[in-house]
Amino acid sequence: MADPRSCEDTLRIPAIVDTGPFTETDVEETPLIQMASLWKTYGVGASTVHALQDVNLTITAGEYVAIMGQSGSGKSTLMHILGCLDVPSSGCYLLEGRNVQELDDVALAAIRNRRIGFVFQQFHLLARLSARRNVELPLGYAGVTSRSERVGRALRALDAVGLGDRADHRPGELSGGQQQRVAIARALVTEPAIILADEPTGNLSGEQSAEILSLLDGLWAEGRTVILITHDPGVAAHARRQVRVQDGRVATEEPAG
Ligand SMILES: Nc1ncnc2c1ncn2[C@@H]1O[C@H](COP(=O)(O)OP(=O)(O)OP(=O)(O)O)[C@@H](O)[C@H]1O
Ligand SMILES: [Mg+2]
Repeated sequence: MADPRSCEDTLRIPAIVDTGPFTETDVEETPLIQMASLWKTYGVGASTVHALQDVNLTITAGEYVAIMGQSGSGKSTLMHILGCLDVPSSGCYLLEGRNVQELDDVALAAIRNRRIGFVFQQFHLLARLSARRNVELPLGYAGVTSRSERVGRALRALDAVGLGDRADHRPGELSGGQQQRVAIARALVTEPAIILADEPTGNLSGEQSAEILSLLDGLWAEGRTVILITHDPGVAAHARRQVRVQDGRVATEEPAG
């Protein structure tokens, strides 16, 4: 299972030759996400689960991708690795050309904080904090020491999701759809390049789901890369590319149509 070759060999990345100043073309040529021969195994012995098996996946900056599959197929495992919340058991993951396995915890935490905005099915808001203070949190971790800057950015992010008038409300005083909008504002406030959403509409009614999906569509239209994990074909249809995970394998991949 383990691939003894280096990531660079596996991905056939040409040796970097200095051909002058770094240009926009160089940026375009580096895929945002490259996974090759990637495995994730949980447990040992008889209880071993191969949650991801030999995954090969490339995502370009600015794509809108849905990762689809049945319960237990490996979607969340894939999201955790994509989001640098977990590391693969073997294989390669290059994020913006950097080999994630070679980064230490501090560097991984910085990537999670600055480059990726997470949206989860369960919202994961802190119940004792107002919407505004929930949205401010990632800015604190990012080292934004000016309180007025944090407050200003949090309020702008809440405005962007249509909740400017709910900034002082705690999560318990908001509807499910509103709580998820606060979570999206929290994901956006650091201006990440990538939005990673795991079943973002899983706990919402039809109308609330439509609002959240139209927000995600808008974030993509503004130039962000959006990766949406879902088992719902109607939700996946919002993306421009569908990637199907089955028994831990990326089974089919349809190019943008
Ligand atoms: N921490 C863990 N320890 C052991 N097995 C795990 C662990 N996390 C996930 N698994 C197993 O790995 C497989 C993939 O799980 P994963 O959570 O990625 O599925 P999923 O596609 O997100 O499912 P769902 O749609 O239900 O959220 C499952 O068989 C699951 O039981
Ligand atoms: Mg899951």
